[in-house]
Amino acid sequence: MTDDNAELTALQQAAKTRHEIEAAITGMFAAEDEGLRASLLAAKQAGLPEIQISPIQGKFLQLLAAMCNAHKILEIGALAGYSGIWLARALPAGGRLITLEMSPDHADVVRSSFERAGVSERAEVRVGRALDLLPTLKSEAPFDLVFIDADKSPYPRYLEWALRLTRPGSIIVADNSIRSGKGFVQAEDEGMAGIVELNKRMASDPRLVSLALAMDDDYTDGFAIAVVKYQ
Ligand code: DHB
Ligand code: MG
Repeated sequence: MTDDNAELTALQQAAKTRHEIEAAITGMFAAEDEGLRASLLAAKQAGLPEIQISPIQGKFLQLLAAMCNAHKILEIGALAGYSGIWLARALPAGGRLITLEMSPDHADVVRSSFERAGVSERAEVRVGRALDLLPTLKSEAPFDLVFIDADKSPYPRYLEWALRLTRPGSIIVADNSIRSGKGFVQAEDEGMAGIVELNKRMASDPRLVSLALAMDDDYTDGFAIAVVKYQ
């Protein structure tokens, strides 16, 4: 066997091992129940893109919510409601998730999925452009956790709003911060420019302790995570 072939085999083996680890962790720590699976099916039937977070990422959001004793969670970008179900389930009795969704049709899908998953009492979908809705949330702040997972070019502005709407000790998470490494280099389009700028700000803002973590289903994308130290 040539060196190239041996290297390729080793890379394939490493990828297979990562996949097996991911599946094992999912099975042991982050198994989906009927409510989560039904939300994915409903999203697919409604023609929504299948770009939701992985089960491990959903469980990780729950872990973060527990770490900051979250009673109030804000999600920017509901998509199919899949991450919203994970987040809402991390709330204690009387807790509240507000999720912002631009599309009224998608919001209907999300509401039905919340209903089926048994979280509709504590999870509310608000329809509109996030940049229009965010200023209206001041009276409901501070949020303990903010999850940003919407259109990418305004990511830096969503981070600014997240900082306005949180408290010291709150956690801010942004999905898709890595993008196979493109999140850390010169951007080729507006969406990537938003992600690159968010990473730069999260990494350098003295008010935050932060880290980007590769943690999606093939470890090429993941969350940028920050804890607010002061405001
Ligand atoms: C994509 C994935 C996401 O998680 C997202 O929020 C937006 C787009 C994508 O893979 O295209
Ligand atoms: Mg995303």
